[in-house]
Amino acid sequence: MIKVKGLYHSYSNDQNYAVKNVSFDIAKGEIFGFLGPSGAGKSTTQGVLAGLLQLQKGQVQVAGYDMNHIQRKMFNKIGMSFEQSNVYSKMTAKENLEFYRKLFDVPTQEPAKLLKMVGLDNKENVKAGEFSKGMKHRLTFARSMINNPELWFLDEPTTGLDPAIASEIKNIIRELNEKGVTIFLTTHNMHIADELCDRVGFIVDGELVLIDSPKNLKLQYGEKLVDVEYIKEDKTVKQSFSTVDYNDRVLLQEVIGNYPIQTMHTKEATLEEIFIKVTGRELV
Ligand SMILES: Nc1ncnc2c1ncn2[C@@H]1O[C@H](COP(=O)(O)OP(=O)(O)OP(=O)(O)O)[C@@H](O)[C@H]1O
Ligand SMILES: [Mg+2]
Repeated sequence: MIKVKGLYHSYSNDQNYAVKNVSFDIAKGEIFGFLGPSGAGKSTTQGVLAGLLQLQKGQVQVAGYDMNHIQRKMFNKIGMSFEQSNVYSKMTAKENLEFYRKLFDVPTQEPAKLLKMVGLDNKENVKAGEFSKGMKHRLTFARSMINNPELWFLDEPTTGLDPAIASEIKNIIRELNEKGVTIFLTTHNMHIADELCDRVGFIVDGELVLIDSPKNLKLQYGEKLVDVEYIKEDKTVKQSFSTVDYNDRVLLQEVIGNYPIQTMHTKEATLEEIFIKVTGRELV
């Protein structure tokens, strides 16, 4: 669905690159997460892929189109929900969506249905200018689904939203993905990346340093430990056992066989810890 090879982008049209030699492929139906600290080049990459920034250097194919020659038809296939909620403030929520749906030559969704999905059904006749930041964000998110996109670009889809709404947004993302929509998601929130993404890419200072599934990364970088709490002589004992060391495994079996177990957890590295380990940088 997306093929990127040797992508560079400079805002100053010189050797000062915001994105440097980035290459990756995204398969149809995949949820791909682009993770990196502020200023890493996430939005820039997304901007080039979505046709908002002119491709300067590299090969980029999106939904079967070569980004050197962007065609209007391509926009029928893609949806974009970006950082800045660029909705029309003088129009109501419903008018915004009615206006936007006319831009497409493909079947579109009913505005009322979309507003309900994002919890704005009671605000459809309110001017977007009177919306809070989170409400504008939800309206932008709803708008990005209007043309039933095959490929959906989401920039920080849950940032700044309260937990209940963020959870709804995540459900919508999962549902659309189950229907076959490919998703390119950009975030510095590793929880959402972990929960949703089939694969993640780590980007730092414009360079893509690693791509893999969250599961593989955890297996590769996580400590192979089990933390166990058990009752011994009326006291709770906490102990960690290696799952690879033979003696520890024998001890763990003894504990399980002889004492009541209260809790038992494998110690997985979080994506954030892995990011720091691999890049030496924080994800903020
Ligand atoms: N319109 C612009 N003009 C000039 N430089 C820009 C512009 N947009 C971004 N940059 C620069 O390009 C680099 C990458 O920015 P980008 O917006 O892609 O980062 P990001 O990973 O999306 O960060 P964030 O997490 O803060 O959204 C930064 O150094 C930024 O200052
Ligand atoms: Mg950004």
